[in-house]
Amino acid sequence: MEVLSTTLAYSGADKIVKKLKEISGGKILDIGTGYGEFIGFLKQALRSFDSFVGVDLNEEELKKAEKEHGTIAKFKKMNAEKLDFPDKTFDIVSVASSLHHLEKPERVLKEMFRVVKPQGYLIIQEMYSDLTQTEAQLATLQVHHFGAKIDTLLGEYHRETYTKEEIKEMVSILNAEELGIFDSTRYPKCLFCEDKDQCDNPKDKALIQSQIEDLKSSLEKISDYPEYEQLEKEAKKLEQDIRKNGITDASILFILAKKK
Ligand SMILES: C[S@@+](CC[C@H](N)C(=O)[O-])C[C@H]1O[C@@H](n2cnc3c(N)ncnc32)[C@H](O)[C@@H]1O
Repeated sequence: MEVLSTTLAYSGADKIVKKLKEISGGKILDIGTGYGEFIGFLKQALRSFDSFVGVDLNEEELKKAEKEHGTIAKFKKMNAEKLDFPDKTFDIVSVASSLHHLEKPERVLKEMFRVVKPQGYLIIQEMYSDLTQTEAQLATLQVHHFGAKIDTLLGEYHRETYTKEEIKEMVSILNAEELGIFDSTRYPKCLFCEDKDQCDNPKDKALIQSQIEDLKSSLEKISDYPEYEQLEKEAKKLEQDIRKNGITDASILFILAKKK
């Protein structure tokens, strides 16, 4: 089983950024924008841009996005299953780390395709769940899937991440021109991070500690649920695995496609 390097320099993230540097962004829509993290990344990675719009269902996240990126972007509460924009409005439409949070991802992808201009770009970035990853990466996947169980108990749609093939198949229904499918063991945003080298060590004590804290605060959200005891056991096992193997980002698939 081939396991790629998880250090940032050999992760594949640089190939993604190199490709994005060739693209002049124009008018960009980011779906499931959350607090606008992907907008922050695109702003740095693209050759240029005119403006951003970010949409999400979560008003609290949108407020944070507005605070962080309000000078270059507009944020709107909107269901991505039915985008309130005319056909062919945007030069780029992106969705990052959100497919597995969407109840109807195919419907959202079709809406993204509708609102992008002909010759415009679609960008899809998603963590994947294939097991061809290091133990430290699998720990991130497990923590993520643990979080998905808790969110589901709390009534939020959050399923386990898809496999690479499932993501590719979902995007293939759009019949867009594929410009590149990049497989990276790290997020391209890491290339722009001030602490970018710190995460190259999956056994970094501070990193491990912060992941364990996140695990615990996630568990606390359901402290009065009947499932608490079972999930507490799972969290303890996860904590042991993280202490033993370390933890680092799980791999991502980054798809760049063009509307014909
Ligand atoms: C994990 S966050 C991703 C945030 C951001 N894109 C990033 O890269 O960090 C997933 C987001 O998808 C949003 N979301 C889920 N279903 C949605 C829908 N139908 N329409 C718009 N946003 C949705 C959630 O509210 C959440 O903020």
